[in-house]
Amino acid sequence: MIQKTFGILNGPNLDRLGVREPSVYGSATLSDVEDALRGTARELDVGVAFFQSNHEGELLDKIVAWADAGISGIVLNPGALAHTSVALRDCVAGCGLPVVEVHISNVYRREEFRHHSFTAAVCAGVVSGLGTEGYSLALRFLAGRARS
Ligand code: DQA
Repeated sequence: MIQKTFGILNGPNLDRLGVREPSVYGSATLSDVEDALRGTARELDVGVAFFQSNHEGELLDKIVAWADAGISGIVLNPGALAHTSVALRDCVAGCGLPVVEVHISNVYRREEFRHHSFTAAVCAGVVSGLGTEGYSLALRFLAGRARS
């Protein structure tokens, strides 16, 4: 059987994990997070592809490219674009893939402007506040769903 592959997509400022506000986002870097996800993917016998950008359009282009390439689902941390981007929301809605939104922090315990997510409403679900483990939990969900 051909192995299913999932995209792990990180938006603005997530390249600064480990340095950026560690009291909110923890001390793991993005490359630590990606290493942990490679381990989860091995365990689940799926492939993972990674992409991070600080540029909205590049994220949209990657979602469409992954969809065209036949990827099976996306774990998406949109960063602040969750709270601002109708374009990202429309792209997620139109890509035809299951997408799980991840926030490392619990956005509902933070400033009010973080309580609304444009993207969440078009995702299969949201993981928020479980730290960087949220990425692996989202990948497990998507892999399980793709198997059933
Ligand atoms: C975040 C939460 C967002 O509100 C914030 O803008 C981020 C990170 C998180 O992972 O907790 O950049 O998506």
